[in-house]
Amino acid sequence: MSSKVPTSQGPSSLPPSVFTLPQTAQLEALYTIIRDKNTRRGDFLFYSDRIIRLLVEEGLNHLPVVPKTIETPTGCSYEGVGFEGKICGVSILRAGEAMEAGLREVCRSVRIGKILIQRDEETAQPKLFYSKFPPDIAQRYVLLLDPMLATGGSAMKAIEVLMEHSVPEDRIIFINLISSPEGLNTFCKKYPLVRVITGWIDQGLNEKAYIIPGLGDFGERRYCS
Ligand code: URA
Repeated sequence: MSSKVPTSQGPSSLPPSVFTLPQTAQLEALYTIIRDKNTRRGDFLFYSDRIIRLLVEEGLNHLPVVPKTIETPTGCSYEGVGFEGKICGVSILRAGEAMEAGLREVCRSVRIGKILIQRDEETAQPKLFYSKFPPDIAQRYVLLLDPMLATGGSAMKAIEVLMEHSVPEDRIIFINLISSPEGLNTFCKKYPLVRVITGWIDQGLNEKAYIIPGLGDFGERRYCS
Protein backbone atom coordinates (compact mmCIF):
# COMPACT_ATOMS: atom_id res chain seq x y z
CA MET A 1 0.00 0.00 0.00
CA SER A 2 1.22 3.47 -0.81
CA SER A 3 1.28 6.27 1.70
CA LYS A 4 0.40 9.92 1.23
CA VAL A 5 2.56 11.12 4.14
CA PRO A 6 6.15 11.77 3.10
CA THR A 7 8.68 13.18 5.52
CA SER A 8 9.61 16.52 4.10
CA GLN A 9 6.31 17.76 2.69
CA GLY A 10 2.92 17.94 4.29
CA PRO A 11 0.31 15.75 2.61
CA SER A 12 -1.79 18.77 1.64
CA SER A 13 1.00 20.21 -0.49
CA LEU A 14 1.54 16.96 -2.37
CA PRO A 15 0.02 16.72 -5.85
CA PRO A 16 -2.70 14.03 -5.99
CA SER A 17 -0.79 12.03 -8.61
CA VAL A 18 2.14 11.44 -6.23
CA PHE A 19 2.45 8.30 -4.12
CA THR A 20 5.26 7.58 -1.69
CA LEU A 21 6.27 4.29 -0.16
CA PRO A 22 5.18 3.89 3.47
CA GLN A 23 7.77 5.88 5.39
CA THR A 24 8.70 3.09 7.78
CA ALA A 25 11.80 2.80 9.95
CA GLN A 26 12.98 -0.06 7.73
CA LEU A 27 12.69 2.05 4.60
CA GLU A 28 14.52 4.90 6.32
CA ALA A 29 17.28 2.47 7.31
CA LEU A 30 17.66 1.42 3.67
CA TYR A 31 17.87 5.05 2.60
CA THR A 32 20.36 5.81 5.36
CA ILE A 33 22.67 3.14 3.95
CA ILE A 34 22.50 4.34 0.35
CA ARG A 35 22.80 8.02 1.34
CA ASP A 36 25.94 7.37 3.39
CA LYS A 37 29.01 8.51 1.45
CA ASN A 38 31.02 5.74 3.15
CA THR A 39 28.77 2.96 1.84
CA ARG A 40 30.73 0.77 -0.54
CA ARG A 41 29.51 -0.06 -4.01
CA GLY A 42 28.45 -3.63 -3.18
CA ASP A 43 26.18 -2.44 -0.38
CA PHE A 44 24.92 0.46 -2.48
CA LEU A 45 23.87 -2.02 -5.17
CA PHE A 46 22.24 -4.41 -2.73
CA TYR A 47 20.26 -1.83 -0.76
CA SER A 48 19.28 0.36 -3.70
CA ASP A 49 18.01 -2.82 -5.38
CA ARG A 50 15.87 -3.53 -2.33
CA ILE A 51 14.27 -0.10 -2.57
CA ILE A 52 13.80 -0.45 -6.33
CA ARG A 53 11.98 -3.72 -5.80
CA LEU A 54 9.60 -2.05 -3.34
CA LEU A 55 8.99 0.80 -5.77
CA VAL A 56 8.28 -1.52 -8.69
CA GLU A 57 5.84 -3.54 -6.61
CA GLU A 58 4.09 -0.30 -5.65
CA GLY A 59 4.01 0.79 -9.29
CA LEU A 60 2.29 -2.47 -10.22
CA ASN A 61 -0.42 -1.71 -7.65
CA HIS A 62 -1.50 1.13 -9.94
CA LEU A 63 -2.24 -1.11 -12.91
CA PRO A 64 -5.87 -2.02 -13.59
CA VAL A 65 -7.25 -5.49 -12.99
CA VAL A 66 -10.38 -7.20 -14.25
CA PRO A 67 -12.55 -9.84 -12.55
CA LYS A 68 -11.28 -13.35 -13.20
CA THR A 69 -12.77 -16.62 -12.01
CA ILE A 70 -10.53 -19.68 -11.70
CA GLU A 71 -10.81 -23.17 -10.29
CA THR A 72 -8.51 -24.22 -7.45
CA PRO A 73 -7.01 -27.74 -7.03
CA THR A 74 -9.64 -28.38 -4.33
CA GLY A 75 -12.35 -28.13 -6.97
CA CYS A 76 -13.59 -24.75 -5.75
CA SER A 77 -14.35 -21.82 -7.93
CA TYR A 78 -12.52 -18.64 -6.90
CA GLU A 79 -13.58 -15.20 -8.00
CA GLY A 80 -10.38 -13.21 -8.16
CA VAL A 81 -8.82 -10.67 -10.48
CA GLY A 82 -6.32 -10.79 -13.31
CA PHE A 83 -4.00 -8.19 -14.72
CA GLU A 84 -5.43 -6.20 -17.58
CA GLY A 85 -3.27 -4.85 -20.33
CA LYS A 86 0.35 -5.23 -21.23
CA ILE A 87 3.17 -3.27 -19.68
CA CYS A 88 6.66 -2.22 -20.61
CA GLY A 89 9.50 -0.53 -18.77
CA VAL A 90 11.30 2.47 -20.21
CA SER A 91 14.57 3.44 -18.57
CA ILE A 92 16.09 6.88 -18.85
CA LEU A 93 19.78 6.20 -19.56
CA ARG A 94 22.05 5.68 -17.91
CA ALA A 95 20.94 5.64 -14.27
CA GLY A 96 17.48 4.31 -15.07
CA GLU A 97 19.03 1.11 -16.44
CA ALA A 98 19.85 0.21 -12.86
CA MET A 99 16.13 -0.22 -12.23
CA GLU A 100 15.50 -2.65 -15.10
CA ALA A 101 16.59 -5.74 -13.16
CA GLY A 102 14.13 -4.91 -10.37
CA LEU A 103 11.32 -4.74 -12.92
CA ARG A 104 12.39 -8.00 -14.59
CA GLU A 105 12.43 -9.75 -11.20
CA VAL A 106 8.73 -9.16 -10.74
CA CYS A 107 7.49 -9.11 -14.35
CA ARG A 108 8.74 -12.09 -16.29
CA SER A 109 9.91 -11.33 -19.83
CA VAL A 110 8.78 -7.72 -19.59
CA ARG A 111 9.60 -5.61 -22.65
CA ILE A 112 12.05 -2.77 -21.98
CA GLY A 113 12.56 0.43 -23.94
CA LYS A 114 15.34 2.96 -23.49
CA ILE A 115 15.66 6.67 -23.84
CA LEU A 116 18.75 8.88 -23.70
CA ILE A 117 18.22 12.52 -22.84
CA GLN A 118 21.02 14.98 -22.26
CA ARG A 119 21.39 18.67 -21.82
CA ASP A 120 21.74 20.54 -25.11
CA GLU A 121 24.86 22.67 -24.64
CA GLU A 122 23.47 25.45 -26.87
CA THR A 123 19.99 25.79 -25.41
CA ALA A 124 20.63 24.28 -21.94
CA GLN A 125 17.38 22.35 -22.46
CA PRO A 126 17.02 18.56 -22.18
CA LYS A 127 17.43 17.03 -25.64
CA LEU A 128 16.53 13.59 -26.95
CA PHE A 129 19.60 11.72 -28.22
CA TYR A 130 18.29 8.18 -28.60
CA SER A 131 15.15 6.15 -28.01
CA LYS A 132 14.13 2.57 -28.67
CA PHE A 133 10.69 1.32 -27.71
CA PRO A 134 8.67 -1.86 -28.28
CA PRO A 135 6.71 -1.29 -31.53
CA ASP A 136 3.35 -1.62 -29.74
CA ILE A 137 4.24 0.78 -26.92
CA ALA A 138 1.08 2.83 -27.52
CA GLN A 139 -0.98 -0.18 -26.39
CA ARG A 140 1.03 -0.72 -23.20
CA TYR A 141 1.16 0.77 -19.72
CA VAL A 142 4.61 2.30 -19.35
CA LEU A 143 6.68 2.17 -16.18
CA LEU A 144 9.18 5.00 -16.66
CA LEU A 145 12.36 4.38 -14.65
CA ASP A 146 14.76 7.05 -13.41
CA PRO A 147 16.21 6.98 -9.88
CA MET A 148 16.47 10.71 -9.14
CA LEU A 149 13.82 13.35 -9.86
CA ALA A 150 15.87 16.53 -9.48
CA THR A 151 14.69 19.40 -11.73
CA GLY A 152 12.34 17.06 -13.59
CA GLY A 153 13.75 18.16 -16.98
CA SER A 154 14.72 14.68 -18.25
CA ALA A 155 11.56 13.04 -16.97
CA MET A 156 9.35 15.68 -18.62
CA LYS A 157 11.22 15.29 -21.90
CA ALA A 158 10.80 11.51 -21.63
CA ILE A 159 7.04 11.91 -21.15
CA GLU A 160 6.90 14.23 -24.17
CA VAL A 161 8.66 11.58 -26.28
CA LEU A 162 6.39 8.79 -25.02
CA MET A 163 3.31 10.87 -25.81
CA GLU A 164 4.70 11.55 -29.31
CA HIS A 165 4.69 7.76 -29.62
CA SER A 166 0.97 7.84 -28.75
CA VAL A 167 1.28 6.57 -25.19
CA PRO A 168 -1.61 8.20 -23.29
CA GLU A 169 -0.49 10.33 -20.35
CA ASP A 170 -2.61 8.38 -17.87
CA ARG A 171 -0.93 5.12 -18.86
CA ILE A 172 2.48 6.24 -17.66
CA ILE A 173 3.75 5.50 -14.16
CA PHE A 174 7.00 7.25 -13.27
CA ILE A 175 9.08 5.45 -10.65
CA ASN A 176 11.99 7.03 -8.79
CA LEU A 177 13.90 6.62 -5.53
CA ILE A 178 14.25 10.25 -4.44
CA SER A 179 12.42 13.40 -5.56
CA SER A 180 13.03 17.06 -4.93
CA PRO A 181 9.86 19.00 -4.05
CA GLU A 182 10.50 21.54 -6.81
CA GLY A 183 11.05 18.86 -9.46
CA LEU A 184 7.98 17.00 -8.32
CA ASN A 185 5.77 20.09 -8.43
CA THR A 186 6.99 21.18 -11.86
CA PHE A 187 6.56 17.67 -13.23
CA CYS A 188 3.08 17.18 -11.80
CA LYS A 189 1.87 20.57 -13.02
CA LYS A 190 2.92 19.71 -16.56
CA TYR A 191 1.75 16.09 -16.50
CA PRO A 192 -0.99 15.77 -13.86
CA LEU A 193 -2.20 12.41 -15.18
CA VAL A 194 1.14 10.64 -14.87
CA ARG A 195 1.31 8.79 -11.57
CA VAL A 196 4.57 9.29 -9.73
CA ILE A 197 5.78 6.62 -7.34
CA THR A 198 8.62 7.98 -5.25
CA GLY A 199 10.43 6.41 -2.34
CA TRP A 200 11.35 9.62 -0.57
CA ILE A 201 10.86 13.36 -1.01
CA ASP A 202 13.96 15.29 0.03
CA GLN A 203 14.54 18.90 1.05
CA GLY A 204 15.46 20.48 -2.26
CA LEU A 205 18.18 21.12 -4.80
CA ASN A 206 21.60 22.69 -4.43
CA GLU A 207 23.11 25.16 -6.89
CA LYS A 208 24.38 22.28 -9.04
CA ALA A 209 20.88 20.75 -9.22
CA TYR A 210 21.83 17.85 -6.96
CA ILE A 211 19.13 16.69 -4.58
CA ILE A 212 19.89 17.45 -0.92
CA PRO A 213 20.49 15.65 1.33
CA GLY A 214 20.23 13.15 -1.54
CA LEU A 215 22.83 10.49 -2.19
CA GLY A 216 25.13 12.20 -4.67
CA ASP A 217 25.36 11.01 -8.26
CA PHE A 218 23.34 7.80 -8.47
CA GLY A 219 25.08 6.61 -11.66
CA GLU A 220 28.55 7.19 -10.20
CA ARG A 221 27.67 5.40 -6.98
CA ARG A 222 26.07 2.50 -8.79
CA TYR A 223 28.59 1.96 -11.57
CA CYS A 224 31.88 3.56 -10.54
CA SER A 225 32.62 3.91 -6.82
N1 URA B 1 21.01 12.86 -10.42
C1 URA B 1 21.72 12.25 -9.43
O1 URA B 1 22.30 11.19 -9.63
N2 URA B 1 21.73 12.83 -8.22
C2 URA B 1 21.09 13.97 -7.94
O2 URA B 1 21.15 14.44 -6.80
C3 URA B 1 20.37 14.60 -8.98
C4 URA B 1 20.35 14.03 -10.21
